[in-house]
Order: sequence, then structure tokens, then C-alpha cells
Amino acid sequence: MTQVESKYKKLHAQIDRNNPVITLRDIHKAFGALQVLKGVDLDVYKGENLVVLGRSGTGKSVLIKIIAGLLKPDRGQVSVLGQEIDKLDTRELQALRAKIGFSFQSSALYDGMSVRANLEFPLVRNKRHLGRKEIDDAVAQVLDDVGLSQAIDQTPSQLSGGQKKRIGIARTLILQPEIMLYDEPTAGLDPLTSVEINDLINEVQQRYNTSSVIITHDLTCARATGDRIVMLSEGCFLRQGTFDEVFESDDPRIRNFYNTILLINHE
Ligand SMILES: Nc1ncnc2c1ncn2[C@@H]1O[C@H](COP(=O)(O)OP(=O)(O)OP(=O)(O)O)[C@@H](O)[C@H]1O
Ligand SMILES: [Mg+2]
Repeated sequence: MTQVESKYKKLHAQIDRNNPVITLRDIHKAFGALQVLKGVDLDVYKGENLVVLGRSGTGKSVLIKIIAGLLKPDRGQVSVLGQEIDKLDTRELQALRAKIGFSFQSSALYDGMSVRANLEFPLVRNKRHLGRKEIDDAVAQVLDDVGLSQAIDQTPSQLSGGQKKRIGIARTLILQPEIMLYDEPTAGLDPLTSVEINDLINEVQQRYNTSSVIITHDLTCARATGDRIVMLSEGCFLRQGTFDEVFESDDPRIRNFYNTILLINHE
């Protein structure tokens, strides 16, 4: 695996294990005959970075969309910040979603709008009472937090892949979320830029005091950002623990995953 030194040391996270902010119980989801999730249980604790590892097509994005209330499970219970999602009406669900930052697999920025306008968009939609100065200050603050103050008047098409990811993350941070969901935050990025994004994820955890779910098949990202790792395979979680605990396993599915990823990263 390509090793690039992180400039950032992951500090010991303040995790409250008595306080789960996301709880999934017996989650099932199928698309037609395709059973994607077959009874998934998960607790994510306050302050924790939880990594979900798994091969392409195992249902990682489906899982994160269920947590965000964007997809409904066929069976099972989802609680986020103490609220059961299927008991919420549209208004309550919208209020809950404002507390969840979703960093999409593609950055999902509006290409025709400047970075400033992209960042203002969620604020104007969700916090209508804010005045011009408060909006300007919030935009300046999140851009500073992701290290891209100079990009304010550029459009997404003028940014690199890593910069787009940062702006995508800034756009979710602007609402000061309690939970961050990152779908493949390092996909398509070179190793150095990936390390910078991993650092940013850890900085966000500390500065914004968020709890995060990080979906990835990047082992460096998993090791750098995860306080705990769960491994999704064939619709169920195979194993969970720290990075080393997960990969000490002799389970051939875990060995296979590890070796395949190492091979891909060597190519
Ligand atoms: N809306 C949908 N309708 C039909 N099938 C879907 C839908 N969303 C996901 N699927 C299927 O569910 C399976 C899991 O998809 P998902 O996007 O969660 O995979 P993933 O683990 O995120 O993969 P990747 O690492 O490639 O992003 C795939 O087979 C996919 O085709
Ligand atoms: Mg996906």
C-alpha cells in the first residue's frame, strides 16, 4: 500500500459509549430479488468515527442513505439522535436532516454556481432568519476550516477533485451538523490528497464535535479515521473492532478483502 505520512496526528477521541446517536436494529433492504441488507444492527456513539468497510456493491451507500432517511428499510428500526425515523412527519424529518451532514460519493456541487453560492444554499434554505453578515461569516468560517478560503469566487469546474471534496464537506459543515456521513470520501483521489481528506475528517470530528459514519473501501482511510471499524459482507456485518482487531481475523472473507485491496493499491 502506498504510505504517505499524515501531517496530522489523530488525537484521542472523546467518545461517549453510553450515548448512541445512531441505532440500527435488524435492518433489511432488498431491490426486487436482490437482498442487499439482511439484518444489520449498529450503534454509533457520540463523538465516534465509525468506518464501514466493504467491497463495491455490498450495500454501503444503501446503508448510509437509510441512516439519512433518504431510503426506507423494508424491515427494522432506525433511530437517529434519539428519534425513530419512521415515526417522523416530513417537517420533523427535514429538521433532523439539517443535523446530519451528508458528504456524497460524488461531491454533488452545483456546477453553475460559485463556491460562495454553493455554500450559501443550505443556509438560505434551512436558516431563513440569518442576515447577510451572518451568512458571509459562516461561509468564510467553513472555507477557512477546510483550508480553501481562496476558492470563494471560483466555480466547481475550476477545482481539483480533492478541492471539490473539501467544498462538499464545507457545504455540510455550514449547518453545524451533529452527525457527518461520508460516502467514499477518498474515492478517485491520489494518495497525498486522500491523506489530506483523512486529516480533514479527523479535524472535523474534533473541531465540530461530530459523530461520523465513514463509508470506504480505502484501507488507509479506514485506519486513519476510524475509531472503530465494521466490515459489511453479503448483507451482514462480519466483524467489528479497531482496524487491527478486524484484520487480525483468519476469516477468509476478511483476508481476501485485505489482500485484494492491497493488490489494487499496488497497481
Ligand atoms: N435505488 C436502487 N434501485 C435498485 N437497486 C439499487 C438501488 N440502490 C442500490 N441498489 C443496488 O444495491 C446494491 C448495493 O448498492 P450500494 O450503492 O449500496 O453499493 P456500495 O457498497 O455503496 O458500492 P460502491 O462501493 O460501488 O459504491 C447494488 O447491487 C446496487 O445495484
Ligand atoms: Mg457506494
